[in-house]
Amino acid sequence: MSSISIIGLGNMARALAGRALAGGNAVEIIGRDLAKAKELAATLGGATVGTAGAAPAGDIVI
Ligand SMILES: NC(=O)c1ccc[n+]([C@@H]2O[C@H](COP(=O)([O-])OP(=O)(O)OC[C@H]3O[C@@H](n4cnc5c(N)ncnc54)[C@H](OP(=O)(O)O)[C@@H]3O)[C@@H](O)[C@H]2O)c1
Repeated sequence: MSSISIIGLGNMARALAGRALAGGNAVEIIGRDLAKAKELAATLGGATVGTAGAAPAGDIVI
């Protein structure tokens, strides 16, 4: 399992996060709009939400 931080809330973020979660990885979602980031994380299920501008938590940052 890897720990992956994804910056952005768009098409690529959704697709990559979904695949990463399906593969059993820990996923952190980071977006400039915190409310939208929380919404995406909830939609995906199982993702956490990071703070824009802070250091990403993941070992891998996309
Ligand atoms: N979609 C594809 O099939 C595809 C394929 C190959 C490559 N790409 C490339 O992948 C990238 C993303 O594509 P996408 O389709 O996911 O785009 P998208 O749906 O427009 O989403 C882009 C996301 O990046 C965020 N963002 C942009 N600049 C940012 C910054 N400085 N700091 C934080 N967040 C930032 C935007 O945040 P806001 O909402 O706050 O603006 C938005 O959430 C693009 O460079 C695109 O060319 C896409």
